[in-house]
Amino acid sequence: MAFLIFTLGFLLSPNLVAGNFSYDGTNGPSHWGKEYKTCLGKYQSPIDIEEKDVTTMTFPELQFSGVEGSHKAYMTNNGHTVMIQSFDSNVPSISGGPINSTYVFQQLHFHWGQNDNQGSEDLINNHSFSMELHVVFWKKEYGSYDEAVKRDDGLTVLGYLYQATDEPNPMFESIVQQISDIIGVGSNITISDNNVLKKLVAPDIASAQNYFTYRGSLTTPPCLEIVQWIDFVKPQHISHEQLAAFRSIQSADGTNLTHNFRPVQPLDGRTVYRNIAGAEPSTISPVSKQTSSTASVPASSPAKKPETINNDVTESPMDNNKNGENSASSMWPVTPFAVILGVIFLLSYQ
Ligand SMILES: *[C@@H]1O[C@H](CO)[C@@H](O)[C@H](O)[C@H]1NC(C)=O
Ligand SMILES: *[C@@H]1O[C@H](CO)[C@@H](O)[C@H](O)[C@H]1NC(C)=O
Ligand SMILES: *[C@@H]1O[C@H](CO)[C@@H](O)[C@H](O)[C@H]1NC(C)=O
Ligand SMILES: *[C@@H]1O[C@H](CO)[C@@H](O)[C@H](O)[C@H]1NC(C)=O
Ligand SMILES: *[C@@H]1O[C@H](CO)[C@@H](O)[C@H](O)[C@H]1NC(C)=O
Ligand SMILES: [Zn+2]
Repeated sequence: MAFLIFTLGFLLSPNLVAGNFSYDGTNGPSHWGKEYKTCLGKYQSPIDIEEKDVTTMTFPELQFSGVEGSHKAYMTNNGHTVMIQSFDSNVPSISGGPINSTYVFQQLHFHWGQNDNQGSEDLINNHSFSMELHVVFWKKEYGSYDEAVKRDDGLTVLGYLYQATDEPNPMFESIVQQISDIIGVGSNITISDNNVLKKLVAPDIASAQNYFTYRGSLTTPPCLEIVQWIDFVKPQHISHEQLAAFRSIQSADGTNLTHNFRPVQPLDGRTVYRNIAGAEPSTISPVSKQTSSTASVPASSPAKKPETINNDVTESPMDNNKNGENSASSMWPVTPFAVILGVIFLLSYQ
């Protein structure tokens, strides 16, 4: 009985119902675990991705569908971020890459900082970018987002990094123009640009096979550990002024939401993979047997050495040729069995 009352009390708690968390003070990230125990789990996001510690891997080609074409989209201030949704029947979906089935678009939203030197959630080589876009997808097999979040492979989130520069990015024009209409928490408008999803979700398809991927969590309470993260390596840009507009929306306490990124969480032995688009059919990049979180790419690796991350975001898109192989030949299955075979093969030749 006591348990029942406790459970009811918990469920009805205005804190929980209101999504009562913030990025400062007594409701800030270091306190989320009090109400949301999962936030104290071992597979939390965001993380710092150290390039020297990632394991290279060739995944099947990551594929997008339903991105082209126009979508009626809504933009909301939910008190924690600027969120964009669409209820069209042709919303984007993704498959391939590190995921085994089709995942359907749910919403996208942004994380930013008090100033342009920070704001991204995942860090790369301990570097914080000015902003990060998260595009959230749920596993189609589970029928709905609400069902998918009950499963440990329920979500895939695409992470896109943005660095602030002097040059405005046209893809943010409509958002920035209309952000003044969603200053108050709960406000919700139709975006004037029907191509906004197309622009944000697949802005540079040539770079789409160049990503880090790891298993982690939602970066806001309840911090569910159900997310396959796919972070694109190549940052894009946004102007200082465009980014400043995001800081003008209000949070629940009526003050400006000046920043909304969670600090990085321990990696705790997880492996972060870097996709190396395969040049040949069934070439497996050597996978070093992980004994710690600091395994590095073997020096003798026949796989292409990962390029250093290009922070020069004004440069033209990376060349496309290494991503251009046909999908059929790169569709070999990445099964644990193949990985074990690869490891045995490597060990027996040393
Ligand atoms: C949020 O939680 C804090 C601490 O538990 C509490 O003091 C505050 O009143 C809550 N705010 C809302 C809006 O529920
Ligand atoms: C895909 O399948 C493999 C092998 O069954 C599994 O190890 C991996 O976790 C799966 N990935 C996702 C995102 O479910
Ligand atoms: C990252 O930076 C923080 C402080 O900015 C520092 O405490 C930490 O040791 C750095 N981590 C790595 C892996 O360099
Ligand atoms: C925004 O408005 C649309 C259209 O009325 C509605 O379908 C959607 O649920 C609203 N979104 C939020 C987060 O309130
Ligand atoms: C806070 O938001 C208002 C508009 O809502 C804006 O005029 C002001 O510049 C913002 N302050 C900061 C620090 O961003
Ligand atoms: Zn997010």
